[in-house]
Amino acid sequence: MKTMNKTDIKIIKADKSHIPQMAELITQNLGTCNLIKGTNNDVTARNIAELTDTIDYYQVAVDEKGTVVGLCGIGDVKEDNDYGLDLGKHRDVLYVVVSKDHQRQGIGTILLQSCLENIHDYPVVYEAWGEIKNGDVNSYKMLAKCAFKLFADMGTSFYCDHGYCPYCVNKDKNCHACFCKIYIHE
Ligand SMILES: CC(C)(COP(=O)(O)OP(=O)(O)OC[C@H]1O[C@@H](n2cnc3c(N)ncnc32)[C@H](O)[C@@H]1OP(=O)(O)O)[C@@H](O)C(=O)NCCC(=O)NCCS
Repeated sequence: MKTMNKTDIKIIKADKSHIPQMAELITQNLGTCNLIKGTNNDVTARNIAELTDTIDYYQVAVDEKGTVVGLCGIGDVKEDNDYGLDLGKHRDVLYVVVSKDHQRQGIGTILLQSCLENIHDYPVVYEAWGEIKNGDVNSYKMLAKCAFKLFADMGTSFYCDHGYCPYCVNKDKNCHACFCKIYIHE
């Protein structure tokens, strides 16, 4: 367990009791951008099912009351990827999300660093998303602090080409409004 001095935030291994709050954080902060056309559109229910299968990979940031304010997970070793890239064996960062009230306090960085400390075998891959109007992916500074390097810029058509945009967090159905960049931590 890690304690962050300034904020009374602790980083702990996630367990099943955290899943409802984790699912809600993902829904609130990543919206519906990662939905595939035609699949279950109850986003929180879908997040709960996904987290139930992968909870062992996650760490959470909790406040003094035990409320989950952030989460991060790094998945199992895999060889395939959705990007058509030669990544070889690797692990994916599953989600990094920090609640709006707690963003920009260093929590995302410490969560990602804490998850990386347990990984010593294969590179860790991060699919970074961001809106063009913001100039870059939301997580670029956090990724730099955690020694991730840009591996491939998938451009602004990736989400459109993969059928995500009809449910985009922008809600304006502008399929070319978001970046997708692949980062890697060796
Ligand atoms: C991206 C996210 C996980 C970062 O977590 P965080 O706890 O806010 O990050 P940290 O406080 O560790 O910040 C690391 C750096 O990133 C910057 N940063 C944080 N959020 C940012 C954003 N949305 N846009 C640009 N920079 C951002 C911080 O200012 C900080 O840099 P600084 O110390 O030089 O000021 C968090 O903002 C979040 O959950 N955002 C919504 C979901 C999201 O976009 N996830 C990433 C999808 S790829």
